[in-house]
Formats: sequence, structure tokens, C-alpha cells
Amino acid sequence: MSSPIRIPLSQPDITDAEVTAVVQVLRSARLSLGPKLEEFESAIAEYVQAEHAVALSSGTSGLCLGLQALGIGEGDEVIVPSFTFIAAANAIRYVRATPVFVDIRPLTLNLDPEAVRRAITPRTRAIMVVHTFGYPADLGELRQIADEHHLDLVEDACEALGGEYGDRKVGVLGKFGVFSFYPNKPITTGEGGLLVTQDAALASTVRALGNQGRSDQDNWNEHSLTGYNHRLPEMSCALGIAQLSRIESILARRADLAREYAECLKVLCPEVEIPPLHASNGRISWFCFVPRLPVSFTGSLRDMLIQKMAALGIQCRAYFSPVHRMRPYARYASCDLPVTTDVSSRTLALPFFNQLQSQQILEVCHSLRDVMSSLTTQ
Ligand SMILES: Cc1ncc(COP(=O)(O)O)c(C=O)c1O
Repeated sequence: MSSPIRIPLSQPDITDAEVTAVVQVLRSARLSLGPKLEEFESAIAEYVQAEHAVALSSGTSGLCLGLQALGIGEGDEVIVPSFTFIAAANAIRYVRATPVFVDIRPLTLNLDPEAVRRAITPRTRAIMVVHTFGYPADLGELRQIADEHHLDLVEDACEALGGEYGDRKVGVLGKFGVFSFYPNKPITTGEGGLLVTQDAALASTVRALGNQGRSDQDNWNEHSLTGYNHRLPEMSCALGIAQLSRIESILARRADLAREYAECLKVLCPEVEIPPLHASNGRISWFCFVPRLPVSFTGSLRDMLIQKMAALGIQCRAYFSPVHRMRPYARYASCDLPVTTDVSSRTLALPFFNQLQSQQILEVCHSLRDVMSSLTTQ
């Protein structure tokens, strides 16, 4: 039997006040489409300085409805990184468009603008930028490419709420931006997502699509569009409002944890590549902490390392596997993405959550050092 995990990869951080906020909603008369929804949307819109915000059941639904509202569909190509979570590519396929996987820059792990340029064809409609692990992508360069080719730039900011490009929050610089509130994110609503945009018509289409196609002008029983149920319940919104009220202290705490890890790894595991602690183009919103192992630790050796760490009660993950190599994307498996291939073979996500203690960081780094040395001397 494997030993229980003592230091998990991630862990939600819910205060008593947040529990109370959710319970208050449960005792109220409105569990969906009520005042908390509006309050949550306004609070996020104000935080990221967006004109419009539409809360939805997940980040994935935000990406999908955003693309649909832009009229992207069959025959269109959307450029997207392969080094990301599969949901980004899935959203493109939900609207029957074709994902075109493009390589990333080795330092930031974000889309490489030069590779984006090379991937543009007469069918390209949009570039889906992902702010990977909360590091702001090169929005300036990508925006310029999008403008030159009359493409829509859309932001998958699911991992990056509070990240900044220059002095603007990420998510508001494309046609739309989407955040996720899955429990491993800096703030959570259990499940949940939210789309922001400066475009009133786009916001109202997304809102209608997420609410069974009922537009602002429709009566209760009228539905202008074939929509979905992607609504976010009032309980989740209440949790989101309370979590958002402390986002700055959460982001500061996570940046401190990243610094602590970096200092520890430098001393204990100098052969491990540490991610950049500061963004050259803005502010990182630390989603997770993902150093890279030396080349000698790829493949089965990394799997063994993860198993040995788990046996010590420490959960680590290989993060992300290239999407173009996954079964639903089998026909893209021959894409030549050398940086994605190299990076994804060496990443190791370490435990990272608000309540992580210095002592635990020390234990993770000591264990990593011991496990790496036991594997090299085997
Ligand atoms: C880059 C990226 N895109 C999309 C998503 C999907 O978000 P959700 O899980 O809320 O659907 C995630 C979620 O983790 C993500 O990391």
C-alpha cells in the first residue's frame, strides 16, 4: 500500500468567513441567478478593469462560448500552444474549429510569436494566448501579429487571475479573457469560470449562450439562441466574492513561496532549473511552481522519481503533457514542437498552495535531493 500524501500538490484555502458567506446563501431564497452573481461579476470586472464580466460554470465553458460568440467555427483555424491544459484545445474543437498547435518560448513557456507567425494560413481566425502557470504571455508582439493578419486575439487566463502585462491585468487585452476558479487556482469557487471583455455585444451573447440561449431582451420563456446551461450558482459566487477580497494577499503569499522554493532548490538541488521569479513584461500570478529536472531525468526516471516522492508522502506531477500527443489529438502527433517536447519531458510540479509552510518546502527540497541522488546511483 502506498503511504498517505502528507504534502499535496495543491489544497484549497477556505476561511471561516467564506464558509459563512456560502451558508448565508444556502439559507436565502436565491440559489441561482441572484444578487451574488451580479456582485461577483462586478467585483472581478473592477479588479481586472474590464467593461463586462460573465460568470460561468467553468473556464472551459468561458473559452468555448467566447469562441462561439466570435463566430469561430467549422473551417476556421485557431492557434494554441500544445504545452497547456487540454481544455484550451477542446474549447476550439467544441465549436468545430481546428486547433493549430504552436511551440513555446523555453523561459516563459508561453507562445513563441515567431512560431505563431509561421503557423498562420488563410484559414486562421484567432490566436488563443495562454498565460502559462500565471506568467504573462508576450501580448504586445502577439497583438501586433493578430492585427497585421486581422485575427482575433483571445486570452486563456485560466491560470493567471491577477497577473499583469505592463500595468494592465491579463485577460482584458484580447477580444475576451477567461479565468478559472477550479480548486487548484489562487482563488476558487469550487468549480467555476468567468469571461471578461470590453465588447458589450460579445458579453451579452456569451451571457445568453450560458443561460439556455435567453438574451437580455427575451422574456422568461423565450430563447433567441440554442444555448447551454453553464450558469454559476449563487453559493459559488458568494465564495468567489469573499476569496477575491483577499486576492492581493494570496498572490503575495504565493510569490513568497516561489522565492522560498527557489532559494532552497538553489542550495539543495542546483542541477534543477528554477522558473523565472519575475516577469520581464509584468507580474506573475503564481498558479503553480514547476521547476525542470536535468535532461538525465526524463521518461521513466521522472516517473520513478514521482513515485518515490509519493512514497515519502509528497505529491508531485509531470505538468503538462503536450496536448498534441494525447489520444483525442492523435492526428496532430507528428507536429514538430521541439521546445514543448523538451520542456514537457522535464517539468516537475511541486506542492504549491497558500498554506504551505517553510518547513514543508524544506522537506520537499530535501526529499527531492535524496530521491534524485538515489536514482542516479542505482
Ligand atoms: C490553461 C487552462 N485553460 C483552461 C482551463 C479550464 O478551466 P476549468 O477547469 O475551470 O474548466 C484550465 C484549468 O485548469 C487551464 O489551466
